[in-house]
Amino acid sequence: MSSPSVQLQELIAPVADGIKRMRETIAHELSEQSPAVREMVEHVGRFQGKQLRAALVLLSGEATSNTTDEHPTIAAVVEMIHLATLVHDDVLDGAEVRRRVACVNHRWDNQTAVLLGDFLYARAFAVSTDLSSRLCSRVLSEATRRICAGEIEQAAGRYDFEATQTRYEWIAGAKTATLYAAACELGARYPGGRDELGAKMRQFGWDLGLAFQIIDDCLDLTATEAEVGKSVGTDVEDGKVTLPVLWTYSRASEAERAAIRDVYTTPGLTDRVSHLRRVCKLDAGVEFARKRADDLIASALESVRTLPPSPARRSLENIASFVLARSW
Ligand code: IPE
Ligand code: IPE
Ligand code: MG
Ligand code: MG
Repeated sequence: MSSPSVQLQELIAPVADGIKRMRETIAHELSEQSPAVREMVEHVGRFQGKQLRAALVLLSGEATSNTTDEHPTIAAVVEMIHLATLVHDDVLDGAEVRRRVACVNHRWDNQTAVLLGDFLYARAFAVSTDLSSRLCSRVLSEATRRICAGEIEQAAGRYDFEATQTRYEWIAGAKTATLYAAACELGARYPGGRDELGAKMRQFGWDLGLAFQIIDDCLDLTATEAEVGKSVGTDVEDGKVTLPVLWTYSRASEAERAAIRDVYTTPGLTDRVSHLRRVCKLDAGVEFARKRADDLIASALESVRTLPPSPARRSLENIASFVLARSW
């Protein structure tokens, strides 16, 4: 079987040139005189992520016949914002590994990671203000506001075992679907107008991004660090009650509920996920969450069904399948 990164490269083949330009733009824009910053930028750039959001900007443009010379720059801005959210998110989660290397907060410290995240946001928005239309800055500043609101609500709702699925999806949507939606909307609409196509692609991105986060939350409970290349089990460790756990908890007996709460809150417990598995039917919750992600992907596919057939549309559809099947 081919490796996941090879599969991913095939998916983004219709926009390979744009991806190359996007990478060059990021390398150029993040070049820095300060030796300390340079070392950190090199560190976070050592392993590239999947670059799905950047690919979605380019593919949404191609699939809606809206490719401009500025699309690779927009893709670069989206990817830099994504990287900034990861650097900050790892501080919030106390994570140790990201993209198979040490997180900035782990290799250096929290203060440094907060500042590097700020540095990345600042660079990203500086690049976006140089674009000929303000649409990119407008959409991405609003997206960044929502991502932060999502992360803040999540922090406020730690250990809330009574949260509804609607509340869970509000948070997952805000912190993750927002940037997917923005990437797809910008691809289809930039530099402006084309409201209907923009709304359609925005919906595609939203459903895809929400499914992506739900699968991520399943992987945090079921995958190993070696598979996903980042710390796992941090959600339970940090008191995040994600959809699989919420669902299991809502169907559990009083005794099981008490045991689940204990696993989350007993100080000093190691490998909380294994304990969780022992005290409740976690797999049923994971299955429920995966079914919800399936439904969201079906809805995403519906949004692109009316686009004219093209290699780019095919890639969008294949990315939707990849999100469900992914193991990293
Ligand atoms: C990780 O996103 C953050 C989440 C929204 C779960 P990705 O899995 O797309 O991260 P990289 O860029 O590929 O590392
Ligand atoms: C994604 O949530 C948060 C962001 C939008 C950055 P997670 O906390 O689940 O992401 P990972 O698992 O650390 O990549
Ligand atoms: Mg995290
Ligand atoms: Mg996660």
